[in-house]
Amino acid sequence: MITFDDVVKVYPGGSTAVDHLSLELPTGKTTVFVGPSGCGKTTSLRMINRMISPTSGRILIDGQDVSGQDEALLRRGIGYVIQHAGLFPHRTVLDNVATVPMLLGKSRRQARTAALGLLERVGLAPEFATRYPAQLSGGQQQRVGVARALAADPPVMLMDEPFSAVDPVVREGLHREFLRLQKDLGKTIVMVTHDIDEAIKLGDVVVILRQGGHLAQVGTPQELLDNPADEFVAEFVGRDRGLRSLSFDSAADLPVRPLTDPAAAGLVIDELGTFTVDDSLRLVTDLAITGGGAVRIGPDGTADGIVTHHDLVDHLAERRGRK
Ligand SMILES: Nc1ncnc2c1ncn2[C@@H]1O[C@H](COP(=O)(O)OP(=O)(O)OP(=O)(O)O)[C@@H](O)[C@H]1O
Ligand SMILES: [Mg+2]
Repeated sequence: MITFDDVVKVYPGGSTAVDHLSLELPTGKTTVFVGPSGCGKTTSLRMINRMISPTSGRILIDGQDVSGQDEALLRRGIGYVIQHAGLFPHRTVLDNVATVPMLLGKSRRQARTAALGLLERVGLAPEFATRYPAQLSGGQQQRVGVARALAADPPVMLMDEPFSAVDPVVREGLHREFLRLQKDLGKTIVMVTHDIDEAIKLGDVVVILRQGGHLAQVGTPQELLDNPADEFVAEFVGRDRGLRSLSFDSAADLPVRPLTDPAAAGLVIDELGTFTVDDSLRLVTDLAITGGGAVRIGPDGTADGIVTHHDLVDHLAERRGRK
């Protein structure tokens, strides 16, 4: 657990960036800090690994005050991912990821083998290993950044707007991978974003900050949506609230027709987006609205049915009736 104990940060000559923040961030979960620009998100994050020191108050990891710990040792246990990946431009992708394990005493060969495994984990094929960062797309660079942060297998990961520099489609893919990876790894993750949608989608716990580094509310996404503490939070989480709540419902009980059903006539199956029973109702709604329908992929990896736009709308109407 990471504890913020009455933490204050006032920059020299500046205003208060973080104002008496007390929080507990659970181990093995993702906590997302969200709020408008300048509300103290990055400052809060960087105080965890001591890149910034608090003016007063304490930050503890598993009960140990970070200010009393050796900085190098502390940071070894804390991965750090930033917006533009922050890769070494003159090193290959493989060496970018292998550098940390080598610093930790692994042989070059062991480090490179581990790095290849990590690249695969974040969804990068081995052929990317020999490229340089400039030869990758923004989304691919971001994946390398995540692989590199994971290389030391740190129990804690800090991520500052890791997905904000890529376009919405790529971001959607990175989100899915993030959730899949985190399900496997169960790291203690602290992420910063200014996108409330991203916070709600990725966070087990969401911390909403407001201007001046004040805590507005902390809770699970569902708690924030259901019981916003005040006007500010209501306004912040309120936009598209109905649509957003679809993120919490499963696509598993959607009505699915056979691919050859007459109701699906006119839809070009190959051009439709796909989903599985593990996806959210939100995803299928997005797909069906933009494409006219969505194709379900079964456990064997092949298409096993179709949800038409019409069936989806009926399902949503029925769901609304139930709530
Ligand atoms: N080194 C610094 N010296 C003085 N003031 C600073 C410094 N770094 C940040 N600040 C101020 O502290 C406040 C919080 O900054 P911070 O970077 O934590 O915000 P943020 O929430 O991450 O914003 P953004 O969403 O724009 O990244 C801002 O008002 C900022 O101008
Ligand atoms: Mg910031």
